[in-house]
Amino acid sequence: MKKISLTQYLVEQQREHGRIPGQLRLLIEVVARACKHIAIAVNKGELGGVLGSAASENVQGEVQKKLDIISNEVLIEANEWGGHLAAMASEEMDSIHVVPNRYPQGEYLLLYDPLDGSSNIDVNVSIGTIFSVLRKVGHQHGVSEEDFLQPGRFQAAAGYCIYGPQTQLVLTVGNGVAIFTLDREMGSWVLTAENMRIPEDTKEFAINMSNLRHWAPPMRRYIDECLAGSPGPRGKDFNMRWVASMVADVHRILCRGGVFAYPWDARDPDKPGKLRLLYEANPMAFLVEQAGGAATNGRQRILDLMPGKLHERVSVVLGSKHEVERITAYHLEEKAQAAKA
Ligand code: AHG
Ligand code: MN
Ligand code: MN
Repeated sequence: MKKISLTQYLVEQQREHGRIPGQLRLLIEVVARACKHIAIAVNKGELGGVLGSAASENVQGEVQKKLDIISNEVLIEANEWGGHLAAMASEEMDSIHVVPNRYPQGEYLLLYDPLDGSSNIDVNVSIGTIFSVLRKVGHQHGVSEEDFLQPGRFQAAAGYCIYGPQTQLVLTVGNGVAIFTLDREMGSWVLTAENMRIPEDTKEFAINMSNLRHWAPPMRRYIDECLAGSPGPRGKDFNMRWVASMVADVHRILCRGGVFAYPWDARDPDKPGKLRLLYEANPMAFLVEQAGGAATNGRQRILDLMPGKLHERVSVVLGSKHEVERITAYHLEEKAQAAKA
């Protein structure tokens, strides 16, 4: 079998579809290289002294793990000098990181969750890196946080790297979803799956069930109906999975279908959700839609949401299309009833 490398894939996408200008190709290759570097640190684990917490918190008040910080730095160092970026934003940085003056400024903006699934690092369960690429619109000099506040439908590319039994890079440039597997001996990314399709129907859901009592009624209704199994209104038995690394849960859904939800809950009613819109929900929504699935916040398409701030949170429902449509319909019904009352 002839092996197609990430570079060849990107060159051919540009040649055939004109989708990947030089700066974007460099950006994707640099992110992929940084992910190799992170994969090595993840694999070393205790031997590399990378496990455990750092003595710091991020802007969202979460205790940072050593690997959160290491991965963030790897991504900055890999990306700031190439001339393809204007600025970066990350879960682990309070504000944006503008490319220093000593380097040329490019036209792209990179957003990322350097290490997703932090609670799984120390227990050797799959984790990942999520990224989203926007174009800096407008020709004003300099770059500010406002430049990042664009709806997700404007993403030029998005992807994640999963550090699991295999290390894989999953990518979309708006022309379907491709998977590359890291060949460690060669140090290269090899195309192993293309044109991924998420089945429209599923019998598997992913949600943190321990929060059930805090959910809004439409979310409870949906899960109650699944749990009722074949004698219930859905007439079939459902299975459940929850890795607690969004990357791993989304990857399973991409490969075999399913629906993922991290809904609003009443533990912290002022927060729209737990996950972050710009570097978790948007890139995953772009990938899922490109694979024929759907992604909403329970009411609206994620990719149409206009972000108000860099670290904005959002409810997330994504995966197999018909289940996402059902959950969204339950939420909209409730909204319509509330409006009548
Ligand atoms: P992060 O490690 O980047 O903060 O993200 C963790 C997220 C996401 O990966 C996962 O789906 C969710 O948190 C798990 O949350 P619970 O521990 O509440 O189940
Ligand atoms: Mn995350
Ligand atoms: Mn993270």
